[in-house]
Amino acid sequence: MLSEKMEKSLNKQVNAELYSSYLYLSMSAYFSEINLNGFAHWMRLQAQEELSHAMKIYDYVNERGGRPLLEGIDAPPKLWGSPAEVFENVLSHEQKVTGMINDLVDLAIELKDHATNNFLQWFVSEQVEEEASANEVLQKVKMTGNQSGGLFMLNQEFGKRIFSPDSE
Ligand code: FEO
Repeated sequence: MLSEKMEKSLNKQVNAELYSSYLYLSMSAYFSEINLNGFAHWMRLQAQEELSHAMKIYDYVNERGGRPLLEGIDAPPKLWGSPAEVFENVLSHEQKVTGMINDLVDLAIELKDHATNNFLQWFVSEQVEEEASANEVLQKVKMTGNQSGGLFMLNQEFGKRIFSPDSE
């Protein structure tokens, strides 16, 4: 059984992951609008991945006899100044999420909730990958200098991204 405090904090994280999904979907819409459909595809998969993160925590709360409580999701931004600015936003957002996951681990340790600590370790590793991947993409996008030739090539590359449930 989850403690009330742990349950509340996990539910907050479900909301944060749903917000991440919303944010990336908004970025996908932005890329579609500026005709970078490969970028839009990449972001749409990212939104899907975030939804799977939310569901992972949702299922865990249920499994431990808790009650997932769904709160309102904040509206994400709609516009960015350039593709590079979008990925700066992705990286800073993922860094923020890493901080939230670390706070949850700290709480699980404080409450001696070993099961939740163990459950959260998947997210600790996932955040290392998320930050590395956001940074890699950001560097590639920056290298184009916002020139259409480079963006076109990246657009082709990002359009080939495949959703892999194993790396959710
Ligand atoms: Fe669910 Fe991108 O962290």
